[in-house]
Amino acid sequence: MSEKWIYKIDDLKMDNEALLVNETIFHNANGYIGVRSNFEEGYPEGYDTIRGSYINGFYDITEMKQAEKLFGMAEEKETMLNVADGQTICVYLDGKKFSMFDGEVLSSSRWLDMQNGYTARKVLWKAPNGKEVDIEIRRMASFSHLQVFVIDYQVTPVNFSGEVIIESEHQGNVRNYCNPNDPRVAGESFQHLIPDHGVVENGASYLITNTVSSGLQVCTGVKNTISAGETETGEIVLEGHHAVQKFIIQAKQGEAVRFVKYMVFADSIRYQDAQTSAKDEMEAVSSVPLEQLYKEQREYLDKFWESSALEIDGDDALCAAVRYNAYQLIQSVGKDPYCDIAAKGLSGEGYEGHYFWDTEMYMQPFFTLTNPEVSKNLVEYRYSTLDKARENARILGHKKGAAYPWRTIRGRECSGYFPSGSAQYHISGDIAYSTVAYYLATGDLDFMAEKGAEIIFETARMWVDLGCWHKGTFQIHEVTGPDEYTCLVSNNYYTNLNAQYNLHWAVRLYKLLKEAGKLEPVAERIGLQESEIEEFEKAEKAMYLPYDEKLGINPQDDSFLNKAVWDFENTPKEDYPLLLHYHPMHIYRYQVCKQADTVLAHFIFEDAQDMETIRKSFAYYDKITTHDSSLSTCIYSIVASKLGLADKAYEYFGDSAKLDLFNTHQNTKDGIHTANMGGNYMAIVYGFGGFRLKESGAWFAPALPKQWDAYRFKLIYLGRHIQVVVNKEGTTFTLESGEPVQIHVYGEECLLENSLHFPLK
Ligand code: BGC
Repeated sequence: MSEKWIYKIDDLKMDNEALLVNETIFHNANGYIGVRSNFEEGYPEGYDTIRGSYINGFYDITEMKQAEKLFGMAEEKETMLNVADGQTICVYLDGKKFSMFDGEVLSSSRWLDMQNGYTARKVLWKAPNGKEVDIEIRRMASFSHLQVFVIDYQVTPVNFSGEVIIESEHQGNVRNYCNPNDPRVAGESFQHLIPDHGVVENGASYLITNTVSSGLQVCTGVKNTISAGETETGEIVLEGHHAVQKFIIQAKQGEAVRFVKYMVFADSIRYQDAQTSAKDEMEAVSSVPLEQLYKEQREYLDKFWESSALEIDGDDALCAAVRYNAYQLIQSVGKDPYCDIAAKGLSGEGYEGHYFWDTEMYMQPFFTLTNPEVSKNLVEYRYSTLDKARENARILGHKKGAAYPWRTIRGRECSGYFPSGSAQYHISGDIAYSTVAYYLATGDLDFMAEKGAEIIFETARMWVDLGCWHKGTFQIHEVTGPDEYTCLVSNNYYTNLNAQYNLHWAVRLYKLLKEAGKLEPVAERIGLQESEIEEFEKAEKAMYLPYDEKLGINPQDDSFLNKAVWDFENTPKEDYPLLLHYHPMHIYRYQVCKQADTVLAHFIFEDAQDMETIRKSFAYYDKITTHDSSLSTCIYSIVASKLGLADKAYEYFGDSAKLDLFNTHQNTKDGIHTANMGGNYMAIVYGFGGFRLKESGAWFAPALPKQWDAYRFKLIYLGRHIQVVVNKEGTTFTLESGEPVQIHVYGEECLLENSLHFPLK
C-alpha cells in the first residue's frame, strides 16, 4: 500500500461530531450510488448518525409550502432519497455484540485508498469477557459495476478459538435526515419510500420499494457470503421490509473469517424492470471472485489518475488534500445522462441531492480538461432537461427561450426562495459557458450541432427576452448574481458578462455550423431565424457593464456601491456564516459578499477589463467578502495568482484544499463540498498554472508557489495529452500523445511538438 494514495486517521475518539464528519469523509460512491461511512454495528442510543445510501438522480416529489401563494412559485420540489440500508453487520462473541462503545478498543484506524478505490477500517477489540478479535473491513462502490456496493468484512480471533456469530441485515424502512434549523438541509422528515414487496431468491434478499409521489421504484438486493471452516448458515428471514441472516461460525485462533456482503441497487429511471436488473446484476457480480472486482476498480482508477494526476512536491499534506478532492470528484460525478453532480456529491443529504451552477462553473472544468467524455455527459444531462428549462422560462414570464432552474434533480425548479433561487439567471449562461468550454477543449462540432448549440440558442433567446434597451445599452434588471448576500439587483456585472458571452456564442455557433453545413437540423428543430441572430449580436455588442470611474472598479451591480459597508469590526466570529444569524433583508442592505461575484467575473471573463481595474476590484471585494460560501476562496486564489499576489493566492488555496478534511465550514457532516473541490483543482491549473481555455486557444502562464519544489498536471486539449511540469528551473510542456498543437505560453504562441521549456516569469 503506497502511502501517497492513503488518507488515514486514528479513530479512537468517539466524539459524535467527528463521527458524523467521518461518515462523509469516508463515504463510498461511484457516481451512481453513494453510501455513507456508518459503523456496520451501529451506535448506542442517543448518538446522532446519518445512515444513508443514495442513488444519483433518484428522487421523490415533496410539497414545498409557500406561506403566500404568489403566481409561479415552486410548490413542489424533488428530493434525493435515502434508499434501503445494507450496511448493518453485527458480530457477537458469547452473546456480546462488538461495539466501539463497549469492551475495550485496543486500536482503531480507518483510511481511504485512492489508488485501489476502497475505504477500510481496522479495529482490535477486547470484549468484556477478555476475548480479542481483529476486525478489518473494506468497503467499495464499484466503478466497473455501478450498481454494486460491497462490504468485505474479516474477523480474526486473536486469543481464542470458538463461536463467532455474524448477523447481517437489509433494512427497507428508512427515512431521509432532516434539521429544521438549517436551511442547507431538508427541514422535515417524511416517509418517501413505501414498501411494495420483498423476495428471497438464490440466497439473496430483494426489497422493492415505491416512491410516494414521483412514480418511481427502486429495488435493492443483498447477498451474504462467508468463507470459514465450520459454519452454520441461517435462512434469510424476511419480515415486512427487513431481512436478516445469521451465521454461526466455529472460528479458529489466528484464522480470518471472511464475510462478504454484496448490495445491488436498481431504479426504474434507468432500468425498465428494477427487480430483474437487480437480480441479474447480483448474479453477475457474486459469481466472479471478489478479487476480480478489486482488480477492475484498480484498473479504472489507474486510468483516471493517469489522465488527471495532480502532484505537488514540497508539501505532502496539501498534495494529499488535493488528491482527496480529485478522488471525490470522480466518486461524485454522474456517469449517465440521467444525472449530474450534486452539490454534496453522493455523500450526504445537504441541499437534498440538488444540482446547481456548481457543476458547470466549478466541477465540470476538471472533467472537460481531463475526461471529456464525462464532461460531455454533463452537457447531455442538461440537454435532457432543456424542455423543462423552456417550461421554466414561460413560468418566469419569458415568451421564448430557456431558463434553467437554480436547483433541481430532473429539471424543475426546486428552489423555494426565489431571491437567491430562480433570480440567479446566470445559471443559464453558466450552462452555455461550460458547453462552449467542452467544445473549445475538444473541437466536437458534431455534438454542438446535435445538442450543445440548442442549449446555447435557447438560453440566448431567454437573455434577449429578459433584458431591455435603455439609452442605447442592453441592460438586465431584477436578477441575482452569484453573491447570495445581494439579491434582486440591476445589471449584476457577472450576469451581464455571462449573458454577453452566451449571446456571442449563439452568433458564433450559428456561423460555424452554417459554414460546416450542420446548421439546418437544429435551426429547423427550434425555428431559429436569421433575424434572431441579428438581435443576439445587437444585444451582445450593446451589453451594459457597470464601471465606477472614481474607484476604477466594476461595481457588483447598479446599487451596490451606494450601500453602507457591513460593520465587520463589530461582527463577532460566531456570527459567521451571516446567513444563519441575520435576516436576509438585513444582509442585502449592506456591501457584504458571501462569495466571489465580480472577482469571479474577473477570472471567467478576464478580457473584459484591463489589469488595473481587476487589481483594484480584487482589493475592494477582498475586504468585504466573508467566504461564507465554499465556492469562494478558490476563485480568490485564482485571481490573486493572476495578479501576482502569491501569498494571498497560496493562503486562499490552502483554505480551499482543506475545507472538508478539516471541516472548516462546520457542515461536512451533511456532505462534501464538491464545488470547492473542483475549484481547488482550478486554483492549481488556472491559478498557479495560469491556464485559460479561449476561442484563441490554450493559454498558460505558470508560476511556482515558493512553498513548493514542483507541481505537475495533465490535460487533454483537442485530443492531445499534454503534461505540464513546473519546477524551480521553469516549466516543461510535454506532448504525450497526438499531433503537434499550438499553445500560448506567457502570451507567446508556440508549437508543441515534443516538448517545450520556459523559464519562470
Ligand atoms: C452558494 C451557491 C451554491 C450553493 C450550492 C450556496 O451556499 O451560495 O452559490 O450554488 O451553495 O453549493
